[in-house]
Amino acid sequence: MNYNNILTKTEDGITLITINRPKKLNALNLETIQELHEAFKTANKDKNTKVIIVTGSGEKAFVAGADISEFADFDIEEGRELAAEGQKLLFNFVENLSTPVIAAVNGFALGGGLELAMAAHFRVASDNAKMGLPEVSLGVIPGYGGTQRLPQLVGKGRAMEMIMTAGMIDANQALNYGLVNHVTTPEDLLPFCKKIAGKIMRNSSVAIGSAIKAINANYKDGVNGFDVEISEFGNCFGTEDFKEGTTAFLEKRKADFSGK
Ligand code: COA
Repeated sequence: MNYNNILTKTEDGITLITINRPKKLNALNLETIQELHEAFKTANKDKNTKVIIVTGSGEKAFVAGADISEFADFDIEEGRELAAEGQKLLFNFVENLSTPVIAAVNGFALGGGLELAMAAHFRVASDNAKMGLPEVSLGVIPGYGGTQRLPQLVGKGRAMEMIMTAGMIDANQALNYGLVNHVTTPEDLLPFCKKIAGKIMRNSSVAIGSAIKAINANYKDGVNGFDVEISEFGNCFGTEDFKEGTTAFLEKRKADFSGK
C-alpha cells in the first residue's frame, strides 16, 4: 500500500514504520493517523512480522505532537471527536495489538508523539530525545491517552508535574523515570531496537500475544487481570507452540515455534 505520510519496510521478521513528515517534525495530522492505523493493522496480520518498530524520520523528531494547524478552530464537539477517534484508531489500537510494538524515540516526542510512544509496548530513546506533554501551554490537555498512560509509567506525582509545567525531560531523566527502558546514541537506536526484537522473536509469538493481553488487563476498568491471566494461561495449553516449547526443553534442543 502507498502512503503519503509514513514509510513501512518488513525485513527479518521486523516491520519498521517510519512517520515521514520531517518538515513538520512528523506532527500527526489526521491522514497520518489513518495511515498509521492501516500500517499497524497490516503488520499485525502479517505472518512475516514478529515485531513492529515505530520511529520518526530525520534527526530531530520522533513526533512533535498532534498537528496543531488542524484543530486550532475546533469547537467542543469537534474536540471530543478528535480525541475519541484518535484513541480508537491509533493509541488504544496499538496498545492492544498482539504483535509487540517498540517505540524508537529519536528526538522530540511531544504531546501526541509521547502519547504514541507510550501506547507502544515499550520505549527506547536516543540520547538527543526530549519528551513532554505540553498541551496545557496551548490551553488544552493531552487527549490521546496521555493523562492515563503517563501516570501508569512514571507515577502520579511526576506525571502531574510534567503535565502542569508543560516541560520537557531529556532521555536520561526519562530513563530514570522508567518512561524509556534504554538510552542509546542516535546511530545505535535502530540496531539496538532490532537486537531486542531478535530476542523477542526467539519466543512463542502466540504466548507473547497472550502476555500482552494479560498485562494490559491490569490497566482496564472493570476487568480482573488475574482472571484474564488464568484464561490466557489456560489457552496457551491448547497451542502448538506450547507442545513444541515443552517438548524441545525435555529433548534438550532449541524450540522451533510456528506461532500457532
Ligand atoms: N503541529 C503542527 N506543526 C508543527 C508541530 C505540531 N505539533 N510541531 C512542529 N511543527 C512545525 C512548525 O510549525 C514548523 O513548520 P513551518 O516550518 O512550516 O513553520 C516545523 O514543524 C518546524 O518546527 P519549528 O517550531 O520551526 O522547530 P523548532 O526546532 O524551532 O522547535 C519544537 C521544535 C518541537 C520545540 C516546536 O516545533 C514545538 O514546540 N512544537 C509544538 C509542540 C507541541 O506543542 N506539541 C503538542 C501538540 S498538542
